[in-house]
Amino acid sequence: MQGKRVLLIIGGGIAAYKCLELIRLIRKAGGVVTPVMTRAAGEFVTPLAVASLAAERVYTELFDLTDEAEMGHIQLSRIADLVVVAPATADLMAKTAGGHADDLASTLLMATDTPVLIAPAMNVRMWEHAATRRNLATLMEDGVAVIGPNDGDMACGEYGPGRMAEPEEILAAIAARISGDGPVAGKRVIVTSGPTHEPIDPVRYIANRSSGAQGSAIAKALHDLGAEVVMVTGPATAPRPQGPQIVEVESASEMMEAVQAALPAQAAVFAAAVADWRVVGASDSKIKKDESGKCPPLEMAENPDILKTVAQLPPGKRPALVVGFAAETDDVVANATAKRARKGCDWILANDVSPGTGIMGGAENAVTLVTADGAETWPRAPKTEVARLLAQRIAEALADEGVA
Ligand code: C5P
Repeated sequence: MQGKRVLLIIGGGIAAYKCLELIRLIRKAGGVVTPVMTRAAGEFVTPLAVASLAAERVYTELFDLTDEAEMGHIQLSRIADLVVVAPATADLMAKTAGGHADDLASTLLMATDTPVLIAPAMNVRMWEHAATRRNLATLMEDGVAVIGPNDGDMACGEYGPGRMAEPEEILAAIAARISGDGPVAGKRVIVTSGPTHEPIDPVRYIANRSSGAQGSAIAKALHDLGAEVVMVTGPATAPRPQGPQIVEVESASEMMEAVQAALPAQAAVFAAAVADWRVVGASDSKIKKDESGKCPPLEMAENPDILKTVAQLPPGKRPALVVGFAAETDDVVANATAKRARKGCDWILANDVSPGTGIMGGAENAVTLVTADGAETWPRAPKTEVARLLAQRIAEALADEGVA
């Protein structure tokens, strides 16, 4: 990050105080920070504290004749290698998504031709509000990168998603974007995600309840750490993450082909709920209902096991780290341990999908990580949090093994 410049727009939220640490970290990593504060940000941190840590002047006003004489807002919006908005409040996100330009921060975001990374932070209800969901989707469509928010205790006393990503995480996301030096930078990782659809005829198919939320979160978390991620996804309902390369497939056979085409990779995470069977001789035309009430026979054949195939590739072709999932309803650890051996993968993330857990298709996951060293149960947490922990563990494992 040496000599790279970050235009840091500090929004008006309690998380603004974390920006002081973020500025310190960026500078420690060799970066330069040009700070911009919204008027509301000044209620949470002082411009003097921000300027002192950045060792640069702080820009606050759109119509400041001194600023305009020294550096106009258009020029200011273009001097950086990356524009970072932290905390990105609900209001700042709405303004950016709507294309407003009525203060310095929003005008810079409209005028910039530099990539933008936002670190949202707000009350959980505001984060979950339909308007914020819409604005987030618009921003992502517009190519804005997003880091966080994390789940946890909030300053307002509530618990849930809305806490700004920690300064270290934001730094990793910045580094990954401007100089490709996150903890898994340069590492290629394949992630499978979502259900598969196994056609019966052109209009009917066999599917399952996987939403693709866990796989998408893993792909995003690895991308945030700087990995080059290829996400091969079945027809999932979860939104596609911004950043990873997305390959859309329908059936298990197509997923197998796409994964093989995406190899070689340093790591592969198989989070897709791949159908075990496909219909033999799926019809090219719609099967007509038999008026006599006779049901059509469906002959099934086993699908290729993508995880097993990749885990058992010869050395040199096999990714250094192969991670599978095991959706279990009973004897979770014992079954996952046996599955790890059967498939030949390095790690299995086992989750209890018994009815009542709400895990399949839900927002949370309770996983046990089974490795060669044994089993380790993680506390039940949002899928985004599980993804973040897994991505960190993958980064550590690749670093420990010296995988280049
Ligand atoms: O055998 P089972 O379906 O329980 O294994 C689950 C794990 O194997 C998951 O990681 C899943 O993505 C992967 N899998 C696969 N191809 C299949 C079946 C499962 O990659 N045909």
